[in-house]
Amino acid sequence: MSQPNHVRIVEVGPRDGLQNEKTFIATADKIELINRLSQTGLKTIEATSFVSPKWVPQMADAAEVFAGIEKHPDISYPVLTPNLQGYERAKAVGAKEVAVFTAASETFNRKNTNAGIDESLQRFAPILEAARADGIKVRGYVSTVLGCPYQGEVPLEDVVRVARALHQMGCYEISLGDTIGVGTPGKARAMLRAVSEAVPMSALAIHFHDTYGQALANILACLEEGVAVVDAAVSGTGGCPYAKGASGNVASEDVVYMLHGLGVETGIDLDRLVETGQWLAGKLGRTTSSKVTYARSAA
Ligand code: HMG
Ligand code: MG
Repeated sequence: MSQPNHVRIVEVGPRDGLQNEKTFIATADKIELINRLSQTGLKTIEATSFVSPKWVPQMADAAEVFAGIEKHPDISYPVLTPNLQGYERAKAVGAKEVAVFTAASETFNRKNTNAGIDESLQRFAPILEAARADGIKVRGYVSTVLGCPYQGEVPLEDVVRVARALHQMGCYEISLGDTIGVGTPGKARAMLRAVSEAVPMSALAIHFHDTYGQALANILACLEEGVAVVDAAVSGTGGCPYAKGASGNVASEDVVYMLHGLGVETGIDLDRLVETGQWLAGKLGRTTSSKVTYARSAA
């Protein structure tokens, strides 16, 4: 077993973290969150989502958010794009990286995007073609890799098939999402191992929600398999509006604390990240879901 020396954290808080918030968060606060995150050493910050505002009203201000943030040349600010319409909106405001998303479970994908898996892959083809011509990077997400809120168990071969398809289409990185946070370390490890036989480990990322409190254990198991890109959300916010019962993403602060404790570099200033999480929790009017932040503020 080995672990990487360096891990890149993909901060998904401004998108996955906020998309499920019931009360509309002021655009200025979304912008301030991203600007604060840009000061922590993070190199990838998923900024927003150019999905249909009828489906996810919280992300209706995607263009204003993206246009309003300070963009640092060494930081990537990917945005979610479900279809060509979303891609064109993202391109119009100068996005340099987009992310497409589908699932390993047919039912979840229908609920989330009104399309079957194969239909969604077909939707992505013109995005990838345009992105290639425009010099825009494309990341791919596979949701429900360890369980589906509608279907239950998800066969490994379905995860492998979808991840392979996204990679073959030209996604430079595939993020494997335990959307509802039901996975356990042995299953997470087996899933990653199976996918890495079809897609190189260097092109894989992991994305855990902490619904059952398994996220850090799952991440550790996957690090031991050699994955070096981890999605997380500051303050542990998040959830998908179309995944009943899904709770927050694993908190970035807790992932960084664990990685530094393991001697793995992240380039992230934990103190600044903790401060940002506290600021966000204050804005949302709730206590943080980061254990590290909670422990530090209680000390
Ligand atoms: P649809 O209703 O089938 O779309 O939705 P449509 O093409 O029939 O269009 C319907 C209307 O939406 C039209 O407007 C379009 O213009 C508009 P109308 O003519 O009625 O006025 N529209 C758009 N507007 C702005 N931007 C767009 C866009 N597309 C259509 N891009 C669609 C299909 C995919 C659009 C919809 O289902 C959708 O937006 N779904 C997104 C759901 C979502 O954001 N889920 C959360 C993100 S995924 C996630 O959280 C999981 C992840 O974190 C990983 C994990 O945890 O597993 C990534
Ligand atoms: Mg997610």
